[in-house]
Amino acid sequence: MLLTLRKTIRDLVFSNRQLAQLYYSVSLSQPVLPHWVGADYYRTKSSWELQPHLCPCDLELNEYLQKHHIQNQSIFHFGTGSHHIVGLENQNLEKPNEILAITASVPEHEEYIRICRTNRQLAKFYKVIWNDIYTLTPHSLPMFDVVSLFHIGEFYMPEEAPFTHHNDESLVDLFLSKLNPGGKILFYTESLGWGTAKKVIESFSNQGKIKKLETYKHLLVYGKNFS
Ligand SMILES: C[S@@+](CC[C@H](N)C(=O)[O-])C[C@H]1O[C@@H](n2cnc3c(N)ncnc32)[C@H](O)[C@@H]1O
Repeated sequence: MLLTLRKTIRDLVFSNRQLAQLYYSVSLSQPVLPHWVGADYYRTKSSWELQPHLCPCDLELNEYLQKHHIQNQSIFHFGTGSHHIVGLENQNLEKPNEILAITASVPEHEEYIRICRTNRQLAKFYKVIWNDIYTLTPHSLPMFDVVSLFHIGEFYMPEEAPFTHHNDESLVDLFLSKLNPGGKILFYTESLGWGTAKKVIESFSNQGKIKKLETYKHLLVYGKNFS
């Protein structure tokens, strides 16, 4: 009974963005999805700390890079979190990778700038841009050896379409066009958007555009079919 009541209140709050914003303001917590609070509120208020029990994908990416001795390569990373653990771990490699990462969160980007000001080596190999990933185009991206698209399906908002270039399908297409021969594109099976992501991946796989190479913990690793 109590659980049903709590769920009803929660559903009511999250069906109205102003109520959802109010909820986050008074609870001093941060929104997890922009759909609940609107893109602008999400971008200015959200900030994701490292929470391995909830979201181990960045740690697993670091492990995967180590396991395969991936160094001195070009990497794109979707979703930095405020911890910036992918960039910080990369810095310790003998030959660090060149990482281009993106966050839509202003606090996460501010944290990147704050860390860079004291850790002067970080920006040398880890560049973080603040933007909506769906605004990226072939002209704004170099070629990559490894691409992490862990949050595909999680944050796409159709209402933002006038301000962006892509949806989830065309975003995967974009990054496939930016994959070097032998390159790898990685997905995360525990993301909140996995239902959507899975369909996109299956569709690309059925069209013969990608092939599965391996699974590493909660990560799926695909290669591009160049034939
Ligand atoms: C749940 S957090 C996960 C962060 C990190 N990958 C981790 O597992 O700890 C989601 C990340 O995706 C980023 N993000 C959300 N929507 C985005 C968008 N439209 N464009 C770029 N980044 C976005 C957020 O800013 C945040 O860094």
